[in-house]
Amino acid sequence: MRGPKADAIETRLDAEPESGLRLVIVRDRLENIFVTGAAGFIGSNLVDVLLSRGKRVVGWDNFSTGQAEFLRAAEKQPGFQLRRGDNLDPPALTSAMAGCDTVFHLAANADVRFGLEQPKKDLEQNTLATFNVLEAMRANSLKRIAFASTGSIYGEARVVPTPEDAPFPIQTSLYGASKLAGESLIQAYCEGFGFEGYVFRFVSILGERYTHGHVFDFYRQLLEHPDHLHVLGDGTQRKSYLYVQDCIAAMLSVMEQATARAARHRVEIYNLGADEFCHLKDSIQWICDYLRLTPRLEFSGGDRGWVGDNPFIFLATKKIQAAGWKPRLNIREGVLKTVEWLEKNRWVLQRRGGPGL
Ligand SMILES: NC(=O)c1ccc[n+]([C@@H]2O[C@H](COP(=O)([O-])OP(=O)(O)OC[C@H]3O[C@@H](n4cnc5c(N)ncnc54)[C@H](O)[C@@H]3O)[C@@H](O)[C@H]2O)c1
Repeated sequence: MRGPKADAIETRLDAEPESGLRLVIVRDRLENIFVTGAAGFIGSNLVDVLLSRGKRVVGWDNFSTGQAEFLRAAEKQPGFQLRRGDNLDPPALTSAMAGCDTVFHLAANADVRFGLEQPKKDLEQNTLATFNVLEAMRANSLKRIAFASTGSIYGEARVVPTPEDAPFPIQTSLYGASKLAGESLIQAYCEGFGFEGYVFRFVSILGERYTHGHVFDFYRQLLEHPDHLHVLGDGTQRKSYLYVQDCIAAMLSVMEQATARAARHRVEIYNLGADEFCHLKDSIQWICDYLRLTPRLEFSGGDRGWVGDNPFIFLATKKIQAAGWKPRLNIREGVLKTVEWLEKNRWVLQRRGGPGL
């Protein structure tokens, strides 16, 4: 890994309409990228795309939920280095990050469902870990961070489709609360230490290397007992989903433009989602049709799956679409890509779901 390229560092004066002239230091381009959570579902797909665009990537992961198999292709690329380590180990994190110019912070406890069973986990893995990432960046004089946040931070939004500047949300899950706290830390580092922050609030993501979520649960169940399917809630939940490659393309469209100019507002927040939603029952139908199964559906009842599950998630995506991005796949196509991938990679069911196959 080479250090940031000196010839890419430039300083210029920009005219700001409201505040007159301001000094903008463009430190470098998007070249040497540190990806936390590199072995995860979204992180490993991101690593592959970054490498295919000629970037050099340091992948950081403790493999708590990440899979070595997801990095097999990346490890063959000369531009990739894997560093095994934990966000809760600040000295190791700081030294691994040396020489990079941009951080994509994706490592987290990504599962929203089990917060009440392990209340400290979200705080440690999502909030404290984000603090450690920011401090490691500060120690390395590194200022640009992209953060994987979530639509869960809107709790049960009163405005749907929910825009980025929706009335300040009430938190309904420890996951959402811990992610919003992570966003807040990034904002404060941008204000206080001149960081450039890009916060991406994802809906649920689908696609290759998917290892958690409703499609995973349903697929596993249907392999175990094809004649019946247990469904949390009453199936009327309305959700939006996004295909993983569309999610990555959206982040990169922002980050690649971002490097051409410093962030205008220090922190930029983008919702990432499809411009549609579906009912949970639709998704069940698509999965069952694909598998040619007609299971008896057993609903646990109620309008939601668990405490903190928002029965209607649909994010407004005008802002990211105005940046020139559009999803390529619709939700149904994303669901089908996911089942198709799970069919070919059943090993992941045992790895992530314990016994059952
Ligand atoms: N998958 C989704 O639907 C979704 C939706 C909204 C937001 N997000 C966010 O996107 C990010 C990626 O999610 P994902 O679905 O790929 O999850 P994932 O569990 O597949 O990936 C997370 C990765 O982080 C690693 N990790 C966890 N804790 C770590 C630590 N302390 N130190 C180092 N590495 C650690 C894991 O081993 C794993 O490889 C997360 O921040 C998640 O909250 C995901």
